[in-house]
Amino acid sequence: LYSSKNKILWEYISVVAQSNGTFGYMWECPDFLKLDGKYVLLFSPQGVAPSGDKYRNLYQAGYIIGDFNYSTHKFTPTSDLVELDHGHDVYATQTTLDNFGRRIVVAWFDMWEQNYPEGEDGFTGIMTIPRELRLLNGNLVQIPIQEVYGIRGSKVAAINGNYTLRDKAGEVNVLANGSQDFVLYIGSNNVKVTICYDAANGKVILDRGGTDSTRRADWKPLRNLKWRIFVDASSIELFCGEGEVTFSSRFFPDGEVVIYQGGGAVLTVHEILRTMPRPS
Ligand SMILES: *[C@@H]1O[C@H](CO)[C@@H](O)[C@H](O)[C@H]1NC(C)=O
Ligand SMILES: *[C@@H]1O[C@H](CO)[C@@H](O)[C@H](O)[C@H]1NC(C)=O
Ligand SMILES: *[C@@H]1O[C@H](CO)[C@@H](O)[C@H](O)[C@H]1NC(C)=O
Ligand SMILES: *[C@@H]1O[C@H](CO)[C@@H](O)[C@H](O)[C@H]1NC(C)=O
Repeated sequence: LYSSKNKILWEYISVVAQSNGTFGYMWECPDFLKLDGKYVLLFSPQGVAPSGDKYRNLYQAGYIIGDFNYSTHKFTPTSDLVELDHGHDVYATQTTLDNFGRRIVVAWFDMWEQNYPEGEDGFTGIMTIPRELRLLNGNLVQIPIQEVYGIRGSKVAAINGNYTLRDKAGEVNVLANGSQDFVLYIGSNNVKVTICYDAANGKVILDRGGTDSTRRADWKPLRNLKWRIFVDASSIELFCGEGEVTFSSRFFPDGEVVIYQGGGAVLTVHEILRTMPRPS
């Protein structure tokens, strides 16, 4: 922690937090912020061992909630490390506080050592949708910033058969009975992504095929299963419920992208406008 009155000269104050070895050997991209009366240390640890459904990616992005004392400059954790996202590709998160007081997080939407096909085009990774962070029952929730509603195009309601996304992009909203299993497919010629809800075990499972295909997380809605899913040409972002669990995974479809369900849900798709309306 450093302090400055003029943002030019900085004075060293203290070490806010450091790994004791349990949560990795290196904490990259630290971001220390106040949110809803608590303090959040958001960072990308390297060297956390996989444990059950947790920490399956090569490196993680996660957070610790705690209290910060401005007299002692001590951060006292009140939570363990919690992964921010449960998909394959979220790292190097950074937040900003905007003019409306919103705490907005963006992540590097990729993972180290993946060699995704875009490398041939000279870039590595994209950015996630900006997400507003809130603290709910001691955990961070992530909500796509409301400006994302501004890029909604026309709506195709209540889809039962196969639906081909225009330009491989769309916002897919799922409404189903939270007491029943559900499955959604996002497929193309070369790849099929399967997103399942296992009602009995309260789990969401995303399988994108290939090696190291599957990610799982605990999530069980009180009544209805509500998912909001953003599909773009090489990405899937799934927001469960009010954003309490998210999955962000890259995928690389050739040709058209088709979505269809195993049945039982109301599926609503919005096309995505390619031109962002100017802020008013
Ligand atoms: C490291 O910190 C974690 C979280 O506070 C704790 O659960 C664990 O026991 C600690 N390990 C050591 C070796 O101190
Ligand atoms: C901060 O630490 C000081 C010194 O230990 C203590 O007197 C004070 O009560 C603490 N403040 C809070 C808000 O816990
Ligand atoms: C829907 O698409 C899937 C995957 O492309 C295909 O296996 C299935 O036969 C299609 N169903 C219909 C009714 O066209
Ligand atoms: C949801 O599913 C459960 C279990 O199958 C069933 O008992 C309940 O009636 C369903 N609710 C609605 C609103 O259909």
